[in-house]
Amino acid sequence: MKRFSDSFLWGGATSSSQIEGGCYEGGRGLTIQDVVTAGTNNQARCFTYVDKDGKQGKYPQFGGTLPAGAKYAVFDNEYYPNHRAIDFYRYYKKDIKMFAEMGFKVFRMSICWSRIYPKGIEEKPNREGLEFYRSIFMELKKYNIEPLVTIWHGENPLYLENELGGWDNRQMIEYFDKYALTVLTEYKGLVKYWLTFNELNNTIMFLDLMEKELAQKEVQSTYQQIHHKFVASAHTVKAAHEIDPEYQVGCMIAYAVNYPSTCSPADVIAKLEKDQKITHYCGDVQVRGYYPGYAQRILQEAKVVLNITEQDIADLRAGNVDFYSFSYYSSACVSANEIGEKAKGNFTIGEKNPYLIYSEWGWAMDPDGLRLALNEIYDRYQIPVIVVENGLGAVDKVEEDGSIHDDYRIEYIRSHIKAMYQAVNDGVDLFGYTTWGCIDEISASTGEMKKRYGFIYVDRDNEGNGTLARIRKDSFYWYKKVIKSNGTEL
Ligand code: BG6
Repeated sequence: MKRFSDSFLWGGATSSSQIEGGCYEGGRGLTIQDVVTAGTNNQARCFTYVDKDGKQGKYPQFGGTLPAGAKYAVFDNEYYPNHRAIDFYRYYKKDIKMFAEMGFKVFRMSICWSRIYPKGIEEKPNREGLEFYRSIFMELKKYNIEPLVTIWHGENPLYLENELGGWDNRQMIEYFDKYALTVLTEYKGLVKYWLTFNELNNTIMFLDLMEKELAQKEVQSTYQQIHHKFVASAHTVKAAHEIDPEYQVGCMIAYAVNYPSTCSPADVIAKLEKDQKITHYCGDVQVRGYYPGYAQRILQEAKVVLNITEQDIADLRAGNVDFYSFSYYSSACVSANEIGEKAKGNFTIGEKNPYLIYSEWGWAMDPDGLRLALNEIYDRYQIPVIVVENGLGAVDKVEEDGSIHDDYRIEYIRSHIKAMYQAVNDGVDLFGYTTWGCIDEISASTGEMKKRYGFIYVDRDNEGNGTLARIRKDSFYWYKKVIKSNGTEL
């Protein structure tokens, strides 16, 4: 039997908007994540804006758009959980020390674009922002923890959203290129692994979720935005290799494992089409450097005409990623008729699987799905693979003596590590695993603190109350043992 390689990268993952806070500090500009309110499992988070007549308004994070002439804005009478998040901005030394105590080999984090270019358009970067991340990388180096850096985790500078309309606008590529070039140059020698765009395909998943309710304009815009990101990502890969041949750059895909609801050939075809559309469309372009054959069918069916230049085509070919990274949380079933009971998931929705158990937030727990995903990816591309998000969002209880018994989380992660081990034995070149939210953070979908993923508990609630104290959960000690034994003691 094969083992996890001796250099296997065990660790955890975060994103700046969900942990960092300090949104008005260090010369940072606001981002689009700073204008999203808190929500719950049943109440949508909302974007806040001021309309063209100066009136305040909001629309749900999933579904809805900014009215013409309106600008995103922060309201005094709203609570925005990401503004302070878990204050990693101040706590990072303590937190990294705790990651080191667990034996982390890698820490996945993202850089906040507007900490480097506050509006996105400045001539020169914000030195204080650059120094902030430099000190994080130095701190990680102290403990031999390899940073894995996401350049874009959903944080467009708010100025670019308001003035340019975000990624619909081709000019975004230019501004992003500049930002990417700055960080790639600045951190040479401190970082080796980079990811360009987090879950680049998740807006297609979102389309799939909302298809019947969205206007054609939004469908067109989703695919055009993704195209602009493909080009920016390819530029980044090329620049990275030129700056430092040691740099390894990956794509990051939200991997949706789909099962046909029945063995009816129509359901199997429905599964194939869904896989192509929501999962492979982005990975295929970023790994191979060109649009796959089925893309034409998808675009035609969606009545989308892409604006692609000859130069874009050449640029995509020159910017293939070195490795494939992905998030995996749950799976769903697909049928041609869509008649089954709906299941929730990370941006995906499908039919419920009677063979699986569901979390409190309705996400299926399916470790075999991870083994399948790893095999599908490696069979398709034959490049190294890393799982950069996986975990269980759950409510944790702090006992009177301060302990937290999160055996449900241990069980979830244990079963997924077993699945990775099987995949390694299937022959997959898997080089690392970073669990999502290794320290509790703000949930992206609901804005809650109560949906916790961490090995480290953070004393903060959904309304922003709490001391921000960090507490080791049972899973902290368990994961430490897992890392120490290189995945043999589960
Ligand atoms: C992924 C994102 O979609 O899922 C993360 O990359 C997110 O940012 C994670 O936090 C888990 O989702 P949620 O909604 O439970 O925070």
